[in-house]
Amino acid sequence: MKLTALDALQIFDSRGHPTIEVIATLEDGTVGRGLVPSGASTGSHEAWELRDRDPRRFQGRSVFKAIGHVTDEIAPALAGHDAFDQAAIDAALIALDGTPNKSRLGANAILGVSLAVAQAAARARCLPLHASLGSGTLLPLPEIQIFGGGKHAQGRIDIQDFMIVALTATSYAETLEVAANVFHAAAEVMRDRGKLAGVADEGGYWPLFDRNEEVFDALLASIERAGYTPGREVGLSLDIAATDLHRDGFYRLGLEGRRFSSEDFAALMIDWVDRYPIVSIEDPMSEDDWEGWRLVRDAIGHRCQLIGDDLFTTHLDRIERGIAAGVANAVLIKLNQIGTVTETLAAIRRTQAAGWLPVVSARSGETEDAFIAHLAVATDAGQLKVGSFSRSERLAKWNEVLRIERDLGPRARFIGAGIFETAGIRLPGATV
Ligand code: PGA
Ligand code: ZN
Repeated sequence: MKLTALDALQIFDSRGHPTIEVIATLEDGTVGRGLVPSGASTGSHEAWELRDRDPRRFQGRSVFKAIGHVTDEIAPALAGHDAFDQAAIDAALIALDGTPNKSRLGANAILGVSLAVAQAAARARCLPLHASLGSGTLLPLPEIQIFGGGKHAQGRIDIQDFMIVALTATSYAETLEVAANVFHAAAEVMRDRGKLAGVADEGGYWPLFDRNEEVFDALLASIERAGYTPGREVGLSLDIAATDLHRDGFYRLGLEGRRFSSEDFAALMIDWVDRYPIVSIEDPMSEDDWEGWRLVRDAIGHRCQLIGDDLFTTHLDRIERGIAAGVANAVLIKLNQIGTVTETLAAIRRTQAAGWLPVVSARSGETEDAFIAHLAVATDAGQLKVGSFSRSERLAKWNEVLRIERDLGPRARFIGAGIFETAGIRLPGATV
């Protein structure tokens, strides 16, 4: 099925910043769209997001150059290519760009095309997107944010994501019931403490806390208020986003005015896992602190999921290095960190082949598109992280998995927190 046309327009993400939408048209008239998200706590090894940097327009964030690259350069180069051959489409995009980090055409332009072609191909095949992308049937265990922080709350607290994981839910739908209960209980807890003040970028409550560890207390109180036992039905999950805390060789918790060496920060992470029912930590250490990562993995990798986000940036070479060095046991998967669907699928496969866990993730700047919900199911990834339980760019993804669950019917599989055991992670206290 030939790709006949590509067009693009500037739309806006969930923070009101410009982003790119690509429209792919096939020879039978089928249309697919690719909506590109954008991060705030980005890793330095990510593929390059091309912005116009014209301070007079959209604070320099417009994407008209990337749009021009789609319409003037990529469209003529890809016209006539087989839209059913995603690998060849993506290889052609990579070759046309010619740079290691997609900085010439822009990873946002390239990903928009890659996503649009994938969606058009699924429609032309009359398949749901997940079935077109892969044969997976495993519904993901969600990591759902309750409090937002870090760069998603203007640095109001240091740690970026305080999330929950439903440990004993027996269906995907039940994980959302748990999330809804805890999310609304958290509002009551915050209100009672005089700390309810709206939500951060990913829909979690705005963090009016004085110490990072106060958040744990609020989180545990919220879980209990919702009628659950922390560590039994509901576990905690953190994204430290430690790259953002690392400056001049030290990790800094600005809220408390504390400064840590790499060893001391690793010790703090280990201490938190000892003291709280934490089942997963993302980016406990900075993106190039491989030695610090190894310390954490050696100490707690057998009982806590350790996800590399900025560390790996969904990049196969960095994932290989991480597997060889044994520094984590899970990889965050973000399409726009690497820039094509094919490379993202390869990153997921490599992660799984190593016995590690892929966690498919949204960005803090999201769109109404739910591609990643399909990606998670198609690849049997087992976990999905898209922010909190408010704001429709978040619920668009959670809800899409409900639709997939219904569409798959008896073919849908759910192993919930059993996913951790598949990677040899034994959660203390969990009754799964
Ligand atoms: P980002 O945040 O999209 O701002 O990078 C998400 C994350 O760090 O996981
Ligand atoms: Zn992260």
